[in-house]
Amino acid sequence: GAPVKADVSKLAPGQRMTVEWRGRPVWIINRTPEMIERTESFATDRLADPESQASLQPSYIAGQMRSIRPEIGVLIGICTHLGCSPVYRPEPDAAGVGVEDWPGGFFCPCHGSRFDLAGRVFSNVPAPTNLEVPPYRFEGDNIIVVG
Ligand code: FES
Repeated sequence: GAPVKADVSKLAPGQRMTVEWRGRPVWIINRTPEMIERTESFATDRLADPESQASLQPSYIAGQMRSIRPEIGVLIGICTHLGCSPVYRPEPDAAGVGVEDWPGGFFCPCHGSRFDLAGRVFSNVPAPTNLEVPPYRFEGDNIIVVG
């Protein structure tokens, strides 16, 4: 499939947009400094694969936020358990997520898997790996090319 372009110039802080690439949803999140701080300071021993060693992401992606720019997250929006669509729960006090010290992220309603704002999966949930990071690059400041 052809690469897909997304313009993030109007993506407000904290908000998410979705584009489709090869029949799959790609989420693009504009993470605020506070969201980044919350994610990076969360106890990584609560995560199953904090360094993404067993998870799918391009070789040029590194770091806790799993992105080229810390503030812009790009993730395949499909649960790595059985393929449901996780819901976006960016706030730390998100009700119904099932953990008290929730750092914000994504919650899969099918079997309760949880992922942080970098798409990293929690321990002790059915999903085995982090949300996939697709190949992407920036074209200028605001255009992301996925694929
Ligand atoms: Fe997401 Fe099972 S499909 S937890």
